[in-house]
Amino acid sequence: QSYRVAILGATGAVGTELLQLLEARKFPISELTLLASERSAGEVRSFRGEELTVEAVSPEKFDAVDIVLASAGGSTSKEWAPIAVKAGAVVVDNSSAFRMDPQVPLVVPEVNPDAVEAHGGVIANPNCTTILMSVAVWPLHQKQPIQRIVASTYQSASGAGARAMEEVKQQARAILQGQVPPTEIFPYPLAFNLFPHNSDLNDQGYCAEEMKMVQETGKIFAASDLRISATCVRVPVLRAHSEAINLEFEQPFDADEAREILKSSPGVKLVEDWQANYFPMPMDASGRDEVLVGRIRQDISHPNGLELWLSGDQIRKGAALNAVQIAELLVERNLLKASAPALAL
Ligand code: A2P
Repeated sequence: QSYRVAILGATGAVGTELLQLLEARKFPISELTLLASERSAGEVRSFRGEELTVEAVSPEKFDAVDIVLASAGGSTSKEWAPIAVKAGAVVVDNSSAFRMDPQVPLVVPEVNPDAVEAHGGVIANPNCTTILMSVAVWPLHQKQPIQRIVASTYQSASGAGARAMEEVKQQARAILQGQVPPTEIFPYPLAFNLFPHNSDLNDQGYCAEEMKMVQETGKIFAASDLRISATCVRVPVLRAHSEAINLEFEQPFDADEAREILKSSPGVKLVEDWQANYFPMPMDASGRDEVLVGRIRQDISHPNGLELWLSGDQIRKGAALNAVQIAELLVERNLLKASAPALAL
């Protein structure tokens, strides 16, 4: 059986990757519709050797669609997901619009695949930093529940979209030529610089990106008592995020045992060469499916602490790949019709 698929946000960084992944992973597609805003309607993209024209999104575009993979920002999802669901499609949404809605499953297939069963038309793809951390620490949490996580992120420009990636390149060129770097997408120069994540701050001083890691991880792990603190930072890297993660358990967790567990965990690749001081790097993670994990070591400041370091492709596992894996789960489990009542979106 094959399905009618639409990509909403098909011209963006994640949309472009979705297109490639659907082809590479041979997702069973009978018809593919590429949707974006008026701005890019008429542009052409190739899929399985065929030329497809990007169309401006409108209600009737969802009339004959089984799955929508949406990555066009929160307000676009809020506007179009209800229309797509009403038309009978299941929406896998990459935006933050529905992630914390109790009726909407928030899914990382390596962690909580069964959560897809209860969907009411929309399934949310978590935030990129949350996905990468979840894949790496869930297998350890299975062995011994994590009590507390302190995460520091080193986030690439791709999280802010294709235009942001272009802006970093322009900034680098401008700085090298002694000119003032352009700052249209980012508030400050990112090239040759870094700054704390520029999402909205709450009254406790945490930004929205940090709170996504806190809240979404609790929901995905079904562990509301898991304590998490995060500091999210943008760095001048194009498309893979890195994270320094400190884990605190109830009992000591042996670093070698963690290494053994992670060696055979789904979606993880252990990258450690202690002699060469070679560990995960965003450059190596770019274009790869796995989250690269390494530098696993006992925390010298706490008997029950463990430190690890990871890099993962933000566009791929942090967004597009995770969404395609969710779509594959829906197909495998024959869940392309909502099993719960349709969301009151
Ligand atoms: P467009 O090319 O027409 O602007 P990125 O995250 O890389 O910035 O990509 C965002 C994606 O979301 C693009 O494909 C963009 O299309 C699409 N998009 C943004 N706003 C809207 C909108 N209001 N309606 C439909 N698509 C949108």
